[in-house]
Amino acid sequence: MSTSSETRTPGTSSGTSTPDRPAARPAQTAGGTRLTLRGVTLGRPDAPAVRGVDVDIAPGEILTVVGPSGCGKSTLLRTLAGLLPPLEGTVEQDGRPLTGPAAQRALVFQEDALLPWRTLRGNVELPLAIAGVPRRVRRDRAEEWLDRVHLAGHAGQLPHRVSGGQRQRAQLARALAGRPRAVLMDEPFGALDAQTRAGMQDLLVEVLHGTGATVVFVTHDVDEALFLGDRVALIGSGEVTAVRDVPRPRDRTAHDDPARVALRRDILSSLGT
Ligand SMILES: Nc1ncnc2c1ncn2[C@@H]1O[C@H](COP(=O)(O)OP(=O)(O)OP(=O)(O)O)[C@@H](O)[C@H]1O
Ligand SMILES: [Mg+2]
Repeated sequence: MSTSSETRTPGTSSGTSTPDRPAARPAQTAGGTRLTLRGVTLGRPDAPAVRGVDVDIAPGEILTVVGPSGCGKSTLLRTLAGLLPPLEGTVEQDGRPLTGPAAQRALVFQEDALLPWRTLRGNVELPLAIAGVPRRVRRDRAEEWLDRVHLAGHAGQLPHRVSGGQRQRAQLARALAGRPRAVLMDEPFGALDAQTRAGMQDLLVEVLHGTGATVVFVTHDVDEALFLGDRVALIGSGEVTAVRDVPRPRDRTAHDDPARVALRRDILSSLGT
């Protein structure tokens, strides 16, 4: 499993800019966690989506998941979140079977899941309040994370007063402010325009730096999968067809790197595109 800290170096990533500010200091978090699927069949009892899944996701790893619409990517994330028990096999976190959803495995969706009547700060604070974090601490932590995602100047605004990219950044802040050990992301940037999306990818790498959180990131976009992932898992024909290491360093402009070109071609051909 590729787990080196090198994988979290934002380093050469650019080409597009992350807005406004220099990188923040590394975040204080709980560190990553190991997620292990063994012989898993997942889906609904009447319609199993993916069979025979054996994947071990190392602490601090970013695993990206690609596959055609309806192949079971979101179902996989729901299973890892503990929302949908596997039909067969075991899903473990650090060697212990999942028993249900937990705050230490945060979910981030494509859909805007911010509460429209709460400010961005109020949205980031909410899960902390539910977790019983004292008011002053949660206020500080919300401010800190809004700052990290370059929204310090928008903390008091309601979601409808900011852009789609800013709302997505607030969702990221909300997910990470709870110091999760795993972040499960379901096409979180799918609704954003290409430039905003590239900026969000850079920002994600930047804010994950130092958290050590394990990330499973579902996307339709092969280039996004290759940019973000330490490994890429391909789902097709009702199974995980391959899990491939991604060449490093992380570099959006390395279009002619032969290993990357070959991997990209393999993935696109197995996706049938
Ligand atoms: N709530 C549900 N009830 C019944 N079947 C469902 C439900 N949600 C998903 N499915 C079925 O499970 C299979 C996998 O769906 P899933 O949403 O995981 O696919 P996906 O890979 O995330 O697709 P997309 O790329 O379109 O988001 C599909 O056949 C889908 O029809
Ligand atoms: Mg989906």
